Amino acid sequence: MKPDDKKIMDIIYRNEDHWRKKKKRSEDYQTTDAVIDLNTTKELKRLQDRGFISSITGTIASGKESGVFLAELGSEGEQHCKAFSIESPIVVKIFRTGTLNFKQMIRYINGDRRFHKYSKKTRRIINLWVEKEYKNLHRSSLAEINVPKPILVKKNILLMELLGKKGKPYPLLRYTPSAFTKSTLDRILNQTRLLFQQANLVHADLSPFNILIGEEKPYLIDMSQSVLTSHPRALEFLKRDLTNILSFFSKKGLEVPDKKELFDEVTKDFSDKNLFL
Ligand SMILES: Nc1ncnc2c1ncn2[C@@H]1O[C@H](COP(=O)(O)OP(=O)(O)OP(=O)(O)O)[C@@H](O)[C@H]1O
Ligand SMILES: [Mg+2]
Repeated sequence: MKPDDKKIMDIIYRNEDHWRKKKKRSEDYQTTDAVIDLNTTKELKRLQDRGFISSITGTIASGKESGVFLAELGSEGEQHCKAFSIESPIVVKIFRTGTLNFKQMIRYINGDRRFHKYSKKTRRIINLWVEKEYKNLHRSSLAEINVPKPILVKKNILLMELLGKKGKPYPLLRYTPSAFTKSTLDRILNQTRLLFQQANLVHADLSPFNILIGEEKPYLIDMSQSVLTSHPRALEFLKRDLTNILSFFSKKGLEVPDKKELFDEVTKDFSDKNLFL
């Protein structure tokens, strides 16, 4: 067990009355760079009490801005997930409230008509950022893009489907040399095109670190920064996404399509009228 696993389990299963007995101190409610601050612990506990999750069983990734964990569904969670064909274990992504980059977040929130009016309070923006990932995943799944189906969002916690087999997450494209092929490239580009044309979204952080390689297909993950095609910088972000993918596969020795032609193909039916989508 990694130290982070140990820490998170300890925190979650610590004496439940911890915060009830303790006199509230303002720093408990401030953001912290730990994955789990007191507020997060409370929310996790609530999800447990409501039967949404029964336990956190391991860590998938622990990065700068989030911790991604495996969890077993509780009875309520199982009921809810049945309708979407999602089974245990699921993924719990917890956004680290202390290390999120606000300037960066605002850049992707401003200009998104789903969030035209919002409070500038730190906590509120963090929650909005998490909600944004939920909404983007939801929109993408409805358009049948290969993404994890979102289950629930609660403050800085997002529950979603595990992309993996037998409880083991699929690997990242970056570390899967068997996927450095023309067929994977074509599938990723096709997903990017569908995302734009069917879900009216641009991923905006597409890279070999945000693509998982499933048994038959690539999946796009990590969508909090994704924007609607009506966002004023959507086309700029799309260009960047395409450049990242093409240059990755080109460095792997593959012949890749022309960037300009690809961009024109993806955006071919895009016009001002789409700005209201
Ligand atoms: N639904 C999922 N199924 C399987 N693995 C996942 C899923 N979501 C995330 N992961 C794994 O967790 C890692 C981190 O997730 P993600 O990319 O969404 O977070 P992040 O915002 O990039 O985190 P950080 O900034 O902390 O690196 C991914 O690289 C992937 O390996
Ligand atoms: Mg990522």
